[in-house]
Amino acid sequence: MSINKKSELHGMQKVSEAVAKTLKKMREYAQVGMSTLELDEYGGELLRSYGAKSAPALTYGFPGNTCISLNEEAAHGIPSADKVLKEGDLINIDVSAELDGFWADNGGSFVLGEDRQSLQGLVDASKQILQQAISSIKGGVRIADIGYLIESKAKHSSFKVIKNLAGHGVGRSLHESPENILNYRDRFNRERFKKNSVVAIETFISTHSTIATQLNDGWTLVGNKGGFVCQHEHTILVTADQPIILTEANEIWN
Ligand code: CO
Ligand code: CO
Repeated sequence: MSINKKSELHGMQKVSEAVAKTLKKMREYAQVGMSTLELDEYGGELLRSYGAKSAPALTYGFPGNTCISLNEEAAHGIPSADKVLKEGDLINIDVSAELDGFWADNGGSFVLGEDRQSLQGLVDASKQILQQAISSIKGGVRIADIGYLIESKAKHSSFKVIKNLAGHGVGRSLHESPENILNYRDRFNRERFKKNSVVAIETFISTHSTIATQLNDGWTLVGNKGGFVCQHEHTILVTADQPIILTEANEIWN
């Protein structure tokens, strides 16, 4: 969406804070021995306490309040009583919601407890790349140039990017124009970021895979060549200068 009024900015700030704080609190709540269903139910309670509704449930009928993806899962993991968190797990939590007609989206990957799978380097690279991508965005910048930045930074750290998962416009619905803020340079995409627009920027940095493929459950995505995938996501407001990070309260960069 494009923000033209104070009331629209306020609406976006409110929903962004709800998803950001929910994500932060879920990350703090996650513990060894807890199921992803328990973690998701906690997230659902938090969203309700802010008056917000789960976006994937509303939009796609997703069977959960939030997406929780573990280890080899790249995205859209379904919360389950059978998935129990272990020391060293790579956990991705993605929280998106609607509040008073406004929608925001954010997510982050982290290692639970001791880094038994040596994945902190991947997590740190993913965070840094998102930070660099966001700080390079302003009105008039080509979307393809941000894709190039993300892919080249990933390569520089000996990682790859997932090519079929992308950032997107957000605000009046979960996914809106521009629909494909890709993690690589699409030379046919001549679109530019627009001042006053709201977009969700999300990096998908991986150890081996370049394509995410769906499992038979109809939701969970995994890498086509295995390995691990990290995602970090913020909803931002594009300006003529540095973007305003609407979901800053999630503290995924800390
Ligand atoms: Co998301
Ligand atoms: Co998103």
